[in-house]
Amino acid sequence: MKILVTGGAGFIGSNFIRLLLVKYPEHKIINFDKLTYAGNLENLADLANLPNYSFIKGDICDSENVMEAISDVDAIVNFAAESHVDRSIKSATPFVSANVYGTQVLLDCAREKGVSRFIHISTDEVGGSLEPGDYLDENSRLYPSSPYAASKAAAEHFVYAARHTHGLDTVMTRTCNNYGPYQFPEKLIPLMIANALENKPLPVYGDGLQVRDWIYVEDNCEALYQVLINGRSGEIYNIGSRAEKNNLEVIETILKLLDRSKDLITFVADRPGHDRRYGINPSKIEQELGWKPEVSFEQGLKKTIDWYLNNQTWLERTRSGVYREYYQEMYGERALLK
Ligand code: NAD
Ligand code: DAU
Repeated sequence: MKILVTGGAGFIGSNFIRLLLVKYPEHKIINFDKLTYAGNLENLADLANLPNYSFIKGDICDSENVMEAISDVDAIVNFAAESHVDRSIKSATPFVSANVYGTQVLLDCAREKGVSRFIHISTDEVGGSLEPGDYLDENSRLYPSSPYAASKAAAEHFVYAARHTHGLDTVMTRTCNNYGPYQFPEKLIPLMIANALENKPLPVYGDGLQVRDWIYVEDNCEALYQVLINGRSGEIYNIGSRAEKNNLEVIETILKLLDRSKDLITFVADRPGHDRRYGINPSKIEQELGWKPEVSFEQGLKKTIDWYLNNQTWLERTRSGVYREYYQEMYGERALLK
């Protein structure tokens, strides 16, 4: 199968491409990415010369870019998005642009070119904050409450509409919080690791008792592959790890594994509208596709910390924004590698 992966230079997208190239090499992969601040080709540098991998610098909001890239692809997996809640609170417009408008451009192009399968990557945040004991099912009502979550929920509606109205073969996934190698150090786990390594304060929003379900990124990517190959058209699949932790628990475990003092923990002003808890029910994908996560939170966190310890140059360069300038100089506004 020839698969176009949008956002493949980002955190989950690059891990997904890595899984395919290493474990399922029968597929041809095109990585289509705008290389925003979050996109980093270094994430796949060791695999970039494989004959079944190519990279196209392009924007999902630009239909010409997209039409050129998808001329003979069988499937699109849409990771491309603005993904950070705090940034969406500062400015929501880029989120509407990439996450909503960009998704619609992709859907239109996919329909016009007769792409057989469209996998859209969504999030458990579309369900909003949940009380302890409540879980988001595939048919739950959506109550997105941050601008990021609102943009992801809006995109879901357009994906649904493309299937319902035009018969496009679409499948959607909603995943909980991912962590692991190559995550941009603005998100909780890599930020805390990076700050702890430099003995800098670890900023904890509010009381730090907000709860997330944490999944190791490789487990999520395997689930996404199962959905791509075996997921039923028109369905939504929740992907969760049943590993709920509050933020302080996560941070204290990181400090323990890095042998750093809890004194680094610094309580700061809460995130406006902060969702207290997400909880997702992954029973459908477990029963229907036989998928289950394989990495426990403790194992995954240890693997993640080891990766950041072994890749401190990546971390430093990513933190300093070096890559962005480098790629802009090297590839310009539009570039085709290979
Ligand atoms: P990320 O921010 O690390 O990567 C996003 C990638 O998309 C970057 O490479 C960026 O350059 C690219 N991109 C952004 N706008 C683009 C555009 N207009 N055209 C082409 N490329 C563009 O994000 P991530 O954490 O890897 O998340 C990937 C997807 O998974 C997103 O759709 C996100 O909403 C979803 N998701 C993430 C998580 C999580 O915990 N990280 C959980 C659930 C769902
Ligand atoms: O639930 C899935 C979502 O998980 C994805 O859709 C998003 O793309 C992804 O960014 C993530 O959203 P969160 O807002 O949950 O992730 P973040 O890492 O930003 O924050 C996790 C928790 O940690 C949240 O309760 C806010 C808190 N936090 C975060 C940062 C960056 C802090 O207390 N301090 C911080 O500095």
